[in-house]
Amino acid sequence: MSKVQQNFSVVSDDADKPGPLQPASVRSLRSTTKRNASSEVAGPAPKIAVKVEKWTIESVCKNGRRLDLSSNEPNAASVIKTLFKEIHGSVLSKLNIHPLHWDECADSELGPFLKTFNNSVKAFRKKNPRDVLLSKENWRQKEASEFRVICDLACQLAIPNPRVLNTHYAGFSSGTYGETNIETLQKILDLLGVKEDDVFMDLGSGIGQLVTFAAAYTNIAHVRGIELQQVPAGFADENVRQFKKLMRHFGEKPRPFELKLGDFNTEEIETFLKEKATIIFCNNLAFDPDLMIKLRAILQFCNNGTKIVVTQKLETTKKGRTPRDYFGYCRQKNDYVNDSKLLSLHSKGPFPFLSS
Ligand SMILES: C[S@@+](CC[C@H](N)C(=O)[O-])C[C@H]1O[C@@H](n2cnc3c(N)ncnc32)[C@H](O)[C@@H]1O
Repeated sequence: MSKVQQNFSVVSDDADKPGPLQPASVRSLRSTTKRNASSEVAGPAPKIAVKVEKWTIESVCKNGRRLDLSSNEPNAASVIKTLFKEIHGSVLSKLNIHPLHWDECADSELGPFLKTFNNSVKAFRKKNPRDVLLSKENWRQKEASEFRVICDLACQLAIPNPRVLNTHYAGFSSGTYGETNIETLQKILDLLGVKEDDVFMDLGSGIGQLVTFAAAYTNIAHVRGIELQQVPAGFADENVRQFKKLMRHFGEKPRPFELKLGDFNTEEIETFLKEKATIIFCNNLAFDPDLMIKLRAILQFCNNGTKIVVTQKLETTKKGRTPRDYFGYCRQKNDYVNDSKLLSLHSKGPFPFLSS
């Protein structure tokens, strides 16, 4: 048996089996798909032995922890390749290790590569106990690509089949799922100039990637997200678990954050928005007119100065719906800034209300 094979730890009898902490909603959807495929077409699926490899990456950061993944976790191999491609690059040159061709390398190359990498990291630490291989000094500057990578990879590990997110709700409805990409949120947060006493709320937070990114990237006081539907909220739980694991690997601590399953149209959330939130984000692109009216009513009670960013103007009716954009409101003297001061992220110049 070769050294690579010795690293294989378990022999699984089910290649499609979800990891132990898969959200319940995902588990049931996955098993439904499998049952249909096997019972209608070819009888029970044959059991194929799949070797599960344990992949470990030693931390190269101050206070970082080892990252353990299994080859049967969703997207584990591509996550490792991306980590090395996007973040660990500078470390490899310090250790005199040649990178693999990340875009083409076979998953079977990862085990031997990680063994060399981990041994080199341990040897480096022994020889230079005070040195840190990966400095994070630039991480919080404008680019912040490392935090985007971490949040994105957490989603990849948490969500084996993102298509499920686009098929669990009825037609074009308030439950329609759609994602704001992390780069766009970063732009918004930069434009808003988030401060230490800000409190951010994502109304309809989906899988929670905006909440985790805000908690990683900013020095904000608190971040919250609330999501009505089980499927995205279940993924959000797993996303949080993976996000924390990746952050620990880099010795990073996110700001306090929470993601909950629930309706934003409740007294508790209304009170929170009124008394605590200073930045409110809502991707309300597909909200039906009733929900839009409720949202407007809820936001009416926010404190003066509260910044609100939505993807569809609050006054929009079904008829007046426009393609997705980002519009900013600021509560002032018991009213929103008027229409002429609405911001559009895609228009030129800064958010107008920031200079008002
Ligand atoms: C377009 S997705 C946005 C996801 C995420 N905020 C983003 O921008 O990437 C809108 C989400 O709002 C959720 N939603 C709709 N009505 C809601 C309500 N009353 N309370 C909480 N969430 C709601 C939907 O289930 C859907 O997942």
